[in-house]
Amino acid sequence: MSITGIKGMNDILPGDVETWQHLEEQARRVFGAFGYREIRVPVVEKTELFCRSIGETTDIVEKEMYTFSDKGGTSMTLRPEGTAPVIRAFIQHKMYAQDPVSKLYYIGPMFRHERPQKGRYRQFHQIGAEVIGVDDPKIDAQVLAMLSHYFITTNIPDVTLQINSLGCPECRPGYRESLITFLEQYLSALCADCQRRYTSNPLRVLDCKVPGCKEATQAAPAMLDSLCMGCDTHFNQVKEHLNTLLIDYTVNPRMVRGLDYYTKTTFEMVTGSLGAQNAVAAGGRYDGLISDLGGPELSGIGFAIGLERLALMLGEQSIDPPRPELFIATLGEAATKAGFAMLTHLQRQGILVEMEYTGKSLKAQLRRADKLKTRRVLILGEDELARGVAQLRHMDESLQEEVNLEGLEVRLLSKIHGENEILGA
Ligand code: HAM
Repeated sequence: MSITGIKGMNDILPGDVETWQHLEEQARRVFGAFGYREIRVPVVEKTELFCRSIGETTDIVEKEMYTFSDKGGTSMTLRPEGTAPVIRAFIQHKMYAQDPVSKLYYIGPMFRHERPQKGRYRQFHQIGAEVIGVDDPKIDAQVLAMLSHYFITTNIPDVTLQINSLGCPECRPGYRESLITFLEQYLSALCADCQRRYTSNPLRVLDCKVPGCKEATQAAPAMLDSLCMGCDTHFNQVKEHLNTLLIDYTVNPRMVRGLDYYTKTTFEMVTGSLGAQNAVAAGGRYDGLISDLGGPELSGIGFAIGLERLALMLGEQSIDPPRPELFIATLGEAATKAGFAMLTHLQRQGILVEMEYTGKSLKAQLRRADKLKTRRVLILGEDELARGVAQLRHMDESLQEEVNLEGLEVRLLSKIHGENEILGA
C-alpha cells in the first residue's frame, strides 16, 4: 500500500502554490513599506514557552498541542502559533538593546491538533506581524491599517474588521468575577466544557459555539462596560484613529480570544464566505507577555493571517502558471544537442524556456508547446542547422519566420526583455 500524508496536513501543489506565492509576496511588499522586517524562528520550542504564554487553560494548551519528548527527555512542542516564539527570540537576543521599537513579521507553518474541516487544519500557515515597544493607541490603528491594506491589495473580498477591548490586569479580574457570578445562574444550561471552565477561563464561555451556551450568555456582562479609565481611554483613541484613517470596523463586545496573553485592543477580520471558520486574521495587544516571559516591561501588539483561509477565498481567481517565452523543438541528434545548449544558456539568463528531453516526434513536441501556452517555438532541424537557420513560430500572432542562428540568442533576449519592460513584468 502506498504511503499517504497525515490527516489535516496538506500538500500545496503547483497551480495552487502560485496563489500562496502571491499572498506571501504581497505581505513582504506591504509590511516592508510599513517598516517591518522578517524574523525566522524554529518550528519547535520548549513546551513551557507555550504553556506560559498562551495559557494553561486554553483549548490550544489543553488539547491541541503536538508535544513530545526528544531523546534527551526535554518536552518539546511544534509551535501552535508564532507570537510566543518571536517574543522568546526578541528577549533571548536582547533585540530591545538595538532599537527601542521592533517591527517584525514571519511566514510559516503552525500546528494544532484540531478536528480538520474546511478552513481548519492540523498544519496550517500564518503570516504574522508583531510590534514591540509602543503602547500608544496610534500603533493599534496603524497595525489595523496595514492589515486592511493587505486585504485590499490581495483582492480578498468580503472581510470586515471587528474590534474589542479585553482590559488589563487592573480591570479584568473584577469583570471576571462578575462574569462568574452571572454564569453561576445558568450553569445547568451550559455544555460540559463550559461547566468545567466557567471558573478557570470564564471568558471562553462567551465564545462557545454550542447553542445552549450562546443563549444562556446572551445577557452576560461585557468587558467593555468594566474597563478601567486607562483601557477605556486607550480604546476610544484607537477608534478615533481608525476613523481618521477611514478604516471601517464594528465593535464586537462579545469577542474573546483563544489565547490568554491579550490585553486591551483585540480584533478579528471575519468573512461570510468560509462557514464556521470565519476568522481570516486575528490579533491584539499583549502588554504583559514580554515581562511574563522574562523580558523587559515592554508592550506588544500583532496579528496573524491564516493563509489557507485566504487561499480558499481566492480559489476562484486562480493564477495561471507563467508562460514559457520559448519552446525549442528539434529534429535529429545534432539539432537536439544544439537546442539543449541554447535552452540552458537562455535559462541562465533568467528566461523561461522549455523543450522535450526525450526524443519525441515534432508533432508531439508542438503539442506540448501548445499545452504550455508558450509564446514562441523555435524549430531546429538537421538541414536548417547545417544552413545556420531555424524556424521561429510566434504563437499569439500565428506567424512563422526563418531566422539566422547567428546572434539569435542575443536578439531573442533583447526582444523578450523589451516586451517584459513594456508589460511591466
Ligand atoms: P489565532 O486567532 O489563534 O491567533 O490565529 C490567527 C489566524 O490563524 C486565525 O484567524 C485563522 O485564520 C488562522 N488559524 C488558526 N488556527 C487555524 C487552523 N487550525 N487551520 C487554519 N487556520 C487557522 C494567533 O495565532 C496569534 N498568535 C495572533 C497574534 C499575533 N496575536 C498577536 N500577534
